[in-house]
Amino acid sequence: MRTNDAQMLVLSALADGPLHGYAVNTAIERMTGARLGRGSLSGALARLHGKGLIAYLDGDGRRRPVRLTDDGRAALGRELGALADVTGRLFETVVPDRIAYQERLAATDQVRAYKQVLLDALDARPGHLVLDWGCGPGSDLDALARAVTARGRVLGIDHDPEMVRRAGALPHAHVLHADVHRLPLAADSADRVRTDRLLQHLADVPRALAEAHRVLRPGGRLVAAEPDWDTLAVDHPDLDIARAWSRHLADRIVRNPVIGRQLPRLAAQSGLDVRAVVPVTSVYREVRAADQVLGLHRNTERAVAGGYLTRRQADDFLDHLARGPFLASVTLHVVTAEKPRR
Ligand SMILES: C[S@@+](CC[C@H](N)C(=O)[O-])C[C@H]1O[C@@H](n2cnc3c(N)ncnc32)[C@H](O)[C@@H]1O
Repeated sequence: MRTNDAQMLVLSALADGPLHGYAVNTAIERMTGARLGRGSLSGALARLHGKGLIAYLDGDGRRRPVRLTDDGRAALGRELGALADVTGRLFETVVPDRIAYQERLAATDQVRAYKQVLLDALDARPGHLVLDWGCGPGSDLDALARAVTARGRVLGIDHDPEMVRRAGALPHAHVLHADVHRLPLAADSADRVRTDRLLQHLADVPRALAEAHRVLRPGGRLVAAEPDWDTLAVDHPDLDIARAWSRHLADRIVRNPVIGRQLPRLAAQSGLDVRAVVPVTSVYREVRAADQVLGLHRNTERAVAGGYLTRRQADDFLDHLARGPFLASVTLHVVTAEKPRR
């Protein structure tokens, strides 16, 4: 029996108690977004009855309620167990702890690739003061410290106390617990400001860019690596499903989903000179690697709850991703901007 079979749908519809035929189809419509045709429903009921998986209760003709038998409940349990097993083995079904999530990402090939582009663009030199805004668990502090040498200083900044604790525990790290919208730092004091997937989360990006402009010295440089989630593409034969999945992520999961493309304009409006915009596209051909970044399972469930996908489309989506071949890509922009010399 396949999980999208009419019979499986009928068994699922009866899981919470007996229903008559019409109500079975209403429950199926609630789960999947579509009713079964009259022939499919009556065929499924007849076959399930013949196998002893459902039984009719007393009642009038077609309005006789039908219930799961013990064998039917066991068959449903086996089906759901097998499905959970497949998706559970392949997809991460619990939300990861946010420190572990950032550390895991920093170790992936895709993230390491754009971080190197960011580091090159930053051009941090011996003696510089470099601010790593939204430093998270501090994955980049060491590389920055090496660039500025013992003559310079790297200051990680994060508003999350747990991130500050984690980053602050790294050898030689200096980390400030602060909000980048308003920093306790002197004007014209920093040589470099770096952001890495921070601006996408901020409540007020223009305010933060004004703060970057204030704390940078004339000639100082901001380099920001920020995604454009509207470029997220996941391959699936049904393009409507793939688009709905990406649209949900951009609409509902990220506060500033297209900050990557907006940043050059916003940086210019804050008085910075935009020197370069380098797009870096991450391509994922391995579903587990993509899952670690995109939370394929949990965001599919959220897309169903948000009305972007029906239950049936969601199952179809994950089922296809699990079978492969898999491909997903997303572009992030590395934007370099400088504070004009007076
Ligand atoms: C996507 S994580 C990136 C972490 C790190 N840059 C990296 O690449 O591993 C964004 C970080 O920005 C921090 N953050 C978000 N809003 C902030 C704010 N207003 N001020 C300071 N940090 C903030 C979060 O706590 C989180 O650690």
